[in-house]
Amino acid sequence: MEKSKERYVAEAMINEYLKMKKGEYLAITADQDSNFKQLEAYLEVCHENDVACTILKTATPPGQSKAAEATVPVEATKEFLMNVDCWIDAGSMGLLYSDIYEHVMENNKKMRYMLTIHLPTDMLYDMYCSFHVEKMVELTNLIKKRYNESKAITVRNSDGMDITFEVDTNNFIAMDNGDASIPGMYTPPADINFIPKQGTAKGTIACRVVYAASQEPDAISDEPAFIHIDEGRVVGIDGEKNASEFLNNWYKKFEYDKNARMIAHVLVGLLPGSKEIASYCVIDERIYGAACWGIGHVSALDMPPEGQPSDTHVDVICPRITILFDDQVIMENGEFTCPEFKTIADVMVK
Ligand SMILES: [Fe+2]
Repeated sequence: MEKSKERYVAEAMINEYLKMKKGEYLAITADQDSNFKQLEAYLEVCHENDVACTILKTATPPGQSKAAEATVPVEATKEFLMNVDCWIDAGSMGLLYSDIYEHVMENNKKMRYMLTIHLPTDMLYDMYCSFHVEKMVELTNLIKKRYNESKAITVRNSDGMDITFEVDTNNFIAMDNGDASIPGMYTPPADINFIPKQGTAKGTIACRVVYAASQEPDAISDEPAFIHIDEGRVVGIDGEKNASEFLNNWYKKFEYDKNARMIAHVLVGLLPGSKEIASYCVIDERIYGAACWGIGHVSALDMPPEGQPSDTHVDVICPRITILFDDQVIMENGEFTCPEFKTIADVMVK
């Protein structure tokens, strides 16, 4: 019988990514809108490998992160998750940066957390089964090494983006490269995320898509909106009408919040099969050679010691970037041009 896509994804997830071993425990958090056919496949692969797996299902919550806790028995779930090795967050909204997440990631030192939300299996298949993991690991490790050796990073694109920030090697560099075998937070591959030195980003972000509240775009256009940054903070928004109006109105709601307009991260998408805007946040963040700038909340785990706590986190998508580590061009118009990166990227696709 032909193997189903659910089965391919489950084998990749349990064996290749999380590298779960006999005797380990997996918890899957889910709700009424989760992709249960996929979750059953995880359960099946776990069972065959003597990994004990439990699915914790609740009603669909009204929002993501802290708002996703509305339908969850919070303290009981914390206790449950304190006693497992891996956690797949497959609820339709996701518990990332909720109180449950912060508590468990802080106190369960062995936890490998994987956020998939309720993505359909076709999307999971494209993400988890489309590249050679060892090559992606090699590429992201090289990017991380060269980033940490740099003093300043510049990101540009043909829409008029031109922004520079300083490197802070104390900030955590998250990589979703297919290896989720050591404790930490993981989202679907593939990307690498940098958190600029606080207060140093200066220039202009030119974006095509805005995600402020959910996985669906709050604004999307063929024309760029411009977010002007000084000392790591949004100081003005103009350009494409819908996006700039949306963002200006959004920030009116957060006048009280001192970190709402602060730069949070820049994530570089590395998913080889994804080149166009899909109008779905988790996919668009991973578009090959695109940047996703985050503005607002950063967890203390990612930016020690205190993080950048805020009640809002906005992500904006900027296709086909050029990126410079100090004066060296690494990527140009969304493709690696620097030979040491290009040779790996060229053989990465399955
Ligand atoms: Fe973000």
